[in-house]
Amino acid sequence: MQIVRTVDALREAVDKLRADGGTIALVPTMGALHAGHMALIEEARLHATHVVASIFVNPTQFGPNEDLDAYPRREAADAALLQKHGCALLWAPDVAEMYPAGFATTVSVKGVSEGLCGAARPGHFDGVSTVVAKLFGQVRPDVALFGEKDFQQLAVIRRMAADLDLGIEIVGLPTQRDDDGLALSSRNAYLTDEERAAARALPRALGEAAAAIERGEPAADALEAARRRLAEAGFDPIDYVALCDAESLEPVDSPDRESRLLAAARIGRTRLIDNIRVAPR
Ligand code: PAJ
Repeated sequence: MQIVRTVDALREAVDKLRADGGTIALVPTMGALHAGHMALIEEARLHATHVVASIFVNPTQFGPNEDLDAYPRREAADAALLQKHGCALLWAPDVAEMYPAGFATTVSVKGVSEGLCGAARPGHFDGVSTVVAKLFGQVRPDVALFGEKDFQQLAVIRRMAADLDLGIEIVGLPTQRDDDGLALSSRNAYLTDEERAAARALPRALGEAAAAIERGEPAADALEAARRRLAEAGFDPIDYVALCDAESLEPVDSPDRESRLLAAARIGRTRLIDNIRVAPR
Protein backbone atom coordinates (compact mmCIF):
# COMPACT_ATOMS: atom_id res chain seq x y z
CA MET A 1 0.00 0.00 0.00
CA GLN A 2 1.34 3.38 -1.03
CA ILE A 3 1.12 6.38 1.34
CA VAL A 4 0.91 9.83 -0.28
CA ARG A 5 1.00 13.23 1.40
CA THR A 6 0.69 15.79 -1.39
CA VAL A 7 -2.14 16.44 -3.84
CA ASP A 8 0.30 16.02 -6.77
CA ALA A 9 1.50 12.61 -5.53
CA LEU A 10 -2.12 11.59 -4.90
CA ARG A 11 -3.17 12.49 -8.46
CA GLU A 12 -0.30 10.50 -9.91
CA ALA A 13 -1.07 7.46 -7.71
CA VAL A 14 -4.81 7.58 -8.49
CA ASP A 15 -4.09 7.90 -12.24
CA LYS A 16 -1.91 4.77 -11.99
CA LEU A 17 -4.67 2.86 -10.21
CA ARG A 18 -7.14 3.92 -12.87
CA ALA A 19 -4.81 2.94 -15.72
CA ASP A 20 -6.21 -0.62 -15.71
CA GLY A 21 -9.70 0.75 -16.34
CA GLY A 22 -10.77 -0.05 -12.77
CA THR A 23 -12.92 2.00 -10.44
CA ILE A 24 -12.03 3.74 -7.17
CA ALA A 25 -13.78 3.64 -3.80
CA LEU A 26 -12.89 6.24 -1.16
CA VAL A 27 -13.19 5.69 2.61
CA PRO A 28 -12.55 9.00 4.43
CA THR A 29 -11.42 8.70 8.07
CA MET A 30 -9.71 10.63 10.85
CA GLY A 31 -7.58 7.59 11.78
CA ALA A 32 -7.34 5.70 15.10
CA LEU A 33 -8.88 2.95 13.04
CA HIS A 34 -11.04 0.19 14.52
CA ALA A 35 -13.20 -2.66 13.25
CA GLY A 36 -15.93 -0.19 12.19
CA HIS A 37 -13.51 1.49 9.79
CA MET A 38 -12.27 -1.91 8.57
CA ALA A 39 -15.85 -2.96 7.79
CA LEU A 40 -16.03 0.12 5.55
CA ILE A 41 -12.80 -0.91 3.78
CA GLU A 42 -14.12 -4.46 3.28
CA GLU A 43 -17.44 -3.14 1.96
CA ALA A 44 -15.56 -0.71 -0.32
CA ARG A 45 -13.79 -3.66 -1.95
CA LEU A 46 -17.19 -4.96 -3.05
CA HIS A 47 -18.02 -1.64 -4.75
CA ALA A 48 -14.86 -0.83 -6.73
CA THR A 49 -11.62 -2.27 -8.11
CA HIS A 50 -9.35 -0.22 -5.84
CA VAL A 51 -9.84 1.18 -2.34
CA VAL A 52 -8.34 4.51 -1.30
CA ALA A 53 -8.52 5.50 2.38
CA SER A 54 -7.80 8.93 3.78
CA ILE A 55 -6.61 9.82 7.25
CA PHE A 56 -6.92 13.49 8.12
CA VAL A 57 -7.85 14.86 11.54
CA ASN A 58 -9.77 17.81 10.17
CA PRO A 59 -9.36 20.87 12.42
CA THR A 60 -12.30 22.76 10.89
CA GLN A 61 -14.86 20.26 12.16
CA PHE A 62 -13.75 20.59 15.80
CA GLY A 63 -15.17 23.35 18.00
CA PRO A 64 -12.88 25.57 20.11
CA ASN A 65 -13.43 23.48 23.28
CA GLU A 66 -13.41 20.08 21.59
CA ASP A 67 -10.81 17.31 21.44
CA LEU A 68 -8.73 18.26 18.35
CA ASP A 69 -5.40 18.14 20.22
CA ALA A 70 -6.31 15.01 22.20
CA TYR A 71 -7.73 13.14 19.19
CA PRO A 72 -5.82 9.82 18.95
CA ARG A 73 -3.19 9.75 16.18
CA ARG A 74 -1.47 6.47 15.33
CA GLU A 75 -0.75 6.42 11.63
CA ALA A 76 1.73 3.50 11.56
CA ALA A 77 -0.74 1.09 13.18
CA ASP A 78 -3.55 2.45 10.98
CA ALA A 79 -1.48 1.95 7.81
CA ALA A 80 -0.71 -1.66 8.77
CA LEU A 81 -4.43 -2.36 9.31
CA LEU A 82 -5.40 -0.75 6.01
CA GLN A 83 -2.78 -2.74 4.14
CA LYS A 84 -3.98 -5.97 5.76
CA HIS A 85 -7.54 -5.28 4.60
CA GLY A 86 -6.56 -4.69 0.98
CA CYS A 87 -6.47 -0.90 0.79
CA ALA A 88 -4.39 0.19 -2.25
CA LEU A 89 -3.55 3.77 -1.31
CA LEU A 90 -3.51 5.91 1.85
CA TRP A 91 -4.02 9.64 1.42
CA ALA A 92 -2.60 11.31 4.52
CA PRO A 93 -2.06 15.03 3.94
CA ASP A 94 -1.03 17.44 6.69
CA VAL A 95 -3.07 20.54 7.57
CA ALA A 96 -0.96 22.87 5.37
CA GLU A 97 -1.50 20.61 2.33
CA MET A 98 -5.26 20.46 2.92
CA TYR A 99 -5.71 24.14 3.81
CA PRO A 100 -2.91 26.12 2.12
CA ALA A 101 -2.54 29.85 2.79
CA GLY A 102 -5.41 31.77 1.24
CA PHE A 103 -7.94 28.95 1.56
CA ALA A 104 -11.34 30.69 1.60
CA THR A 105 -14.16 28.30 0.63
CA THR A 106 -16.81 26.69 2.81
CA VAL A 107 -19.34 24.12 1.65
CA SER A 108 -22.43 24.49 3.82
CA VAL A 109 -25.45 22.20 3.57
CA LYS A 110 -28.61 23.79 4.97
CA GLY A 111 -31.52 21.96 6.59
CA VAL A 112 -30.29 18.47 7.30
CA SER A 113 -27.13 19.77 9.01
CA GLU A 114 -28.88 22.24 11.31
CA GLY A 115 -30.53 20.18 14.09
CA LEU A 116 -29.15 17.44 16.39
CA CYS A 117 -25.31 17.51 16.32
CA GLY A 118 -25.44 20.60 14.08
CA ALA A 119 -27.20 22.50 16.88
CA ALA A 120 -24.93 21.09 19.60
CA ARG A 121 -21.70 21.63 17.60
CA PRO A 122 -21.98 24.90 15.64
CA GLY A 123 -19.87 24.83 12.46
CA HIS A 124 -19.15 21.11 12.75
CA PHE A 125 -20.97 20.05 9.58
CA ASP A 126 -19.56 22.96 7.55
CA GLY A 127 -16.15 21.56 8.45
CA VAL A 128 -17.21 18.04 7.49
CA SER A 129 -18.88 18.94 4.19
CA THR A 130 -16.00 21.20 3.16
CA VAL A 131 -13.30 18.61 3.85
CA VAL A 132 -15.32 15.79 2.26
CA ALA A 133 -15.92 17.96 -0.83
CA LYS A 134 -12.15 18.50 -0.98
CA LEU A 135 -11.43 14.77 -0.52
CA PHE A 136 -13.89 14.04 -3.33
CA GLY A 137 -12.16 16.61 -5.58
CA GLN A 138 -8.72 15.30 -4.70
CA VAL A 139 -9.40 11.56 -5.13
CA ARG A 140 -12.31 11.77 -7.63
CA PRO A 141 -13.71 8.40 -6.55
CA ASP A 142 -16.57 6.56 -8.25
CA VAL A 143 -18.05 5.63 -4.90
CA ALA A 144 -17.49 6.76 -1.29
CA LEU A 145 -18.47 4.92 1.86
CA PHE A 146 -19.61 6.30 5.22
CA GLY A 147 -20.93 4.70 8.41
CA GLU A 148 -24.47 4.99 9.71
CA LYS A 149 -22.85 5.46 13.13
CA ASP A 150 -22.60 9.13 12.08
CA PHE A 151 -26.10 9.13 10.64
CA GLN A 152 -26.47 12.89 10.32
CA GLN A 153 -23.06 13.15 8.64
CA LEU A 154 -24.13 10.51 6.11
CA ALA A 155 -27.35 12.44 5.41
CA VAL A 156 -25.42 15.71 4.98
CA ILE A 157 -22.97 14.11 2.55
CA ARG A 158 -25.76 12.46 0.54
CA ARG A 159 -27.45 15.88 0.26
CA MET A 160 -24.20 17.58 -0.77
CA ALA A 161 -23.32 14.93 -3.39
CA ALA A 162 -26.81 15.15 -4.90
CA ASP A 163 -27.04 18.95 -4.78
CA LEU A 164 -23.62 19.48 -6.38
CA ASP A 165 -24.08 16.74 -9.02
CA LEU A 166 -20.81 15.19 -7.90
CA GLY A 167 -21.54 11.91 -9.69
CA ILE A 168 -20.16 9.95 -6.73
CA GLU A 169 -22.25 7.10 -5.36
CA ILE A 170 -22.61 7.41 -1.57
CA VAL A 171 -22.88 4.08 0.26
CA GLY A 172 -23.88 3.87 3.94
CA LEU A 173 -22.75 0.99 6.15
CA PRO A 174 -24.65 -0.22 9.26
CA THR A 175 -23.07 0.64 12.61
CA GLN A 176 -20.50 -1.89 13.80
CA ARG A 177 -20.82 -2.60 17.53
CA ASP A 178 -18.95 -4.21 20.41
CA ASP A 179 -20.40 -7.38 21.94
CA ASP A 180 -22.42 -5.37 24.48
CA GLY A 181 -23.92 -3.15 21.78
CA LEU A 182 -21.79 -0.02 22.16
CA ALA A 183 -21.03 1.46 18.73
CA LEU A 184 -17.33 1.26 17.89
CA SER A 185 -15.76 4.72 17.93
CA SER A 186 -12.26 6.17 18.04
CA ARG A 187 -13.52 8.23 21.00
CA ASN A 188 -14.28 5.09 23.07
CA ALA A 189 -10.53 5.11 23.81
CA TYR A 190 -11.18 8.10 26.11
CA LEU A 191 -13.53 6.10 28.39
CA THR A 192 -12.43 4.86 31.82
CA ASP A 193 -13.45 1.27 32.65
CA GLU A 194 -16.35 2.60 34.71
CA GLU A 195 -17.54 4.93 31.93
CA ARG A 196 -17.15 2.15 29.37
CA ALA A 197 -19.41 -0.10 31.48
CA ALA A 198 -22.01 2.68 31.85
CA ALA A 199 -21.86 3.57 28.13
CA ARG A 200 -23.73 0.43 27.11
CA ALA A 201 -26.85 2.16 28.44
CA LEU A 202 -26.83 4.28 25.27
CA PRO A 203 -27.57 1.51 22.72
CA ARG A 204 -29.87 -0.18 25.24
CA ALA A 205 -31.93 2.94 25.87
CA LEU A 206 -32.25 3.53 22.12
CA GLY A 207 -33.16 -0.11 21.46
CA GLU A 208 -35.87 -0.07 24.12
CA ALA A 209 -37.29 3.25 22.94
CA ALA A 210 -37.36 2.08 19.30
CA ALA A 211 -39.14 -1.12 20.31
CA ALA A 212 -41.68 0.85 22.38
CA ILE A 213 -42.41 3.23 19.48
CA GLU A 214 -42.75 0.29 17.08
CA ARG A 215 -45.25 -1.27 19.53
CA GLY A 216 -47.33 1.90 19.21
CA GLU A 217 -46.41 3.71 22.42
CA PRO A 218 -46.31 7.52 22.11
CA ALA A 219 -42.86 8.60 20.91
CA ALA A 220 -42.69 11.43 23.45
CA ASP A 221 -43.00 8.92 26.32
CA ALA A 222 -40.40 6.58 24.82
CA LEU A 223 -37.94 9.46 24.31
CA GLU A 224 -38.46 10.65 27.89
CA ALA A 225 -37.86 7.12 29.22
CA ALA A 226 -34.63 6.91 27.18
CA ARG A 227 -33.46 10.27 28.56
CA ARG A 228 -34.17 9.07 32.11
CA ARG A 229 -32.27 5.86 31.49
CA LEU A 230 -29.24 7.75 30.17
CA ALA A 231 -29.30 10.16 33.12
CA GLU A 232 -29.48 7.22 35.55
CA ALA A 233 -26.46 5.63 33.85
CA GLY A 234 -24.49 8.85 34.42
CA PHE A 235 -24.77 10.61 31.04
CA ASP A 236 -24.68 14.39 31.55
CA PRO A 237 -25.50 16.48 29.67
CA ILE A 238 -27.80 14.71 27.23
CA ASP A 239 -27.59 16.82 24.07
CA TYR A 240 -30.59 15.17 22.43
CA VAL A 241 -32.71 12.05 22.12
CA ALA A 242 -34.91 12.55 19.05
CA LEU A 243 -37.11 10.71 16.59
CA CYS A 244 -36.51 12.07 13.08
CA ASP A 245 -37.40 11.46 9.46
CA ALA A 246 -34.60 9.23 8.18
CA GLU A 247 -33.83 11.43 5.17
CA SER A 248 -34.49 15.05 6.15
CA LEU A 249 -33.77 14.46 9.87
CA GLU A 250 -36.73 16.71 10.69
CA PRO A 251 -38.24 15.73 14.07
CA VAL A 252 -41.38 13.59 13.79
CA ASP A 253 -44.05 12.66 16.37
CA SER A 254 -44.66 9.17 15.04
CA PRO A 255 -42.87 6.88 12.58
CA ASP A 256 -45.25 7.19 9.63
CA ARG A 257 -42.27 7.01 7.27
CA GLU A 258 -38.80 5.50 7.57
CA SER A 259 -37.53 7.08 10.83
CA ARG A 260 -34.44 7.17 12.96
CA LEU A 261 -33.99 7.50 16.69
CA LEU A 262 -30.82 9.48 17.41
CA ALA A 263 -29.03 10.45 20.60
CA ALA A 264 -25.93 12.31 21.74
CA ALA A 265 -24.81 12.52 25.34
CA ARG A 266 -21.67 13.00 27.37
CA ILE A 267 -20.26 10.50 29.83
CA GLY A 268 -17.39 11.98 31.83
CA ARG A 269 -15.51 14.07 29.26
CA THR A 270 -16.51 11.96 26.27
CA ARG A 271 -19.38 12.77 23.94
CA LEU A 272 -20.97 9.65 22.45
CA ILE A 273 -23.55 9.41 19.66
CA ASP A 274 -25.71 6.56 18.47
CA ASN A 275 -28.82 5.95 16.38
CA ILE A 276 -31.19 3.18 15.43
CA ARG A 277 -33.81 2.53 12.77
CA VAL A 278 -37.47 2.74 13.70
CA ALA A 279 -39.67 0.80 11.27
CA PRO A 280 -42.56 2.75 9.73
CA ARG A 281 -46.06 1.90 10.97
P1 PAJ B 1 -14.19 9.03 11.56
O1 PAJ B 1 -14.86 9.33 12.84
O2 PAJ B 1 -12.78 8.52 11.57
O3 PAJ B 1 -15.07 7.99 10.79
C1 PAJ B 1 -14.72 7.58 9.49
C2 PAJ B 1 -15.86 6.77 8.93
O4 PAJ B 1 -16.03 5.58 9.71
C3 PAJ B 1 -17.21 7.53 8.97
O5 PAJ B 1 -17.93 7.29 7.77
C4 PAJ B 1 -17.88 6.91 10.17
O6 PAJ B 1 -19.30 6.98 10.11
C5 PAJ B 1 -17.39 5.48 10.06
N1 PAJ B 1 -17.52 4.77 11.34
C6 PAJ B 1 -17.00 5.12 12.54
N2 PAJ B 1 -17.39 4.25 13.49
C7 PAJ B 1 -18.17 3.33 12.88
C8 PAJ B 1 -18.91 2.18 13.31
N3 PAJ B 1 -18.90 1.80 14.58
N4 PAJ B 1 -19.61 1.48 12.39
C9 PAJ B 1 -19.64 1.87 11.09
N5 PAJ B 1 -18.98 2.95 10.62
C10 PAJ B 1 -18.26 3.67 11.50
O7 PAJ B 1 -16.41 10.59 10.35
C11 PAJ B 1 -15.28 11.04 10.25
O8 PAJ B 1 -14.15 10.34 10.62
C12 PAJ B 1 -15.00 12.42 9.67
O9 PAJ B 1 -16.07 13.28 9.99
C13 PAJ B 1 -14.76 12.42 8.14
C14 PAJ B 1 -15.97 11.89 7.36
C15 PAJ B 1 -13.51 11.58 7.80
C16 PAJ B 1 -14.49 13.87 7.66
O10 PAJ B 1 -13.42 14.44 8.35
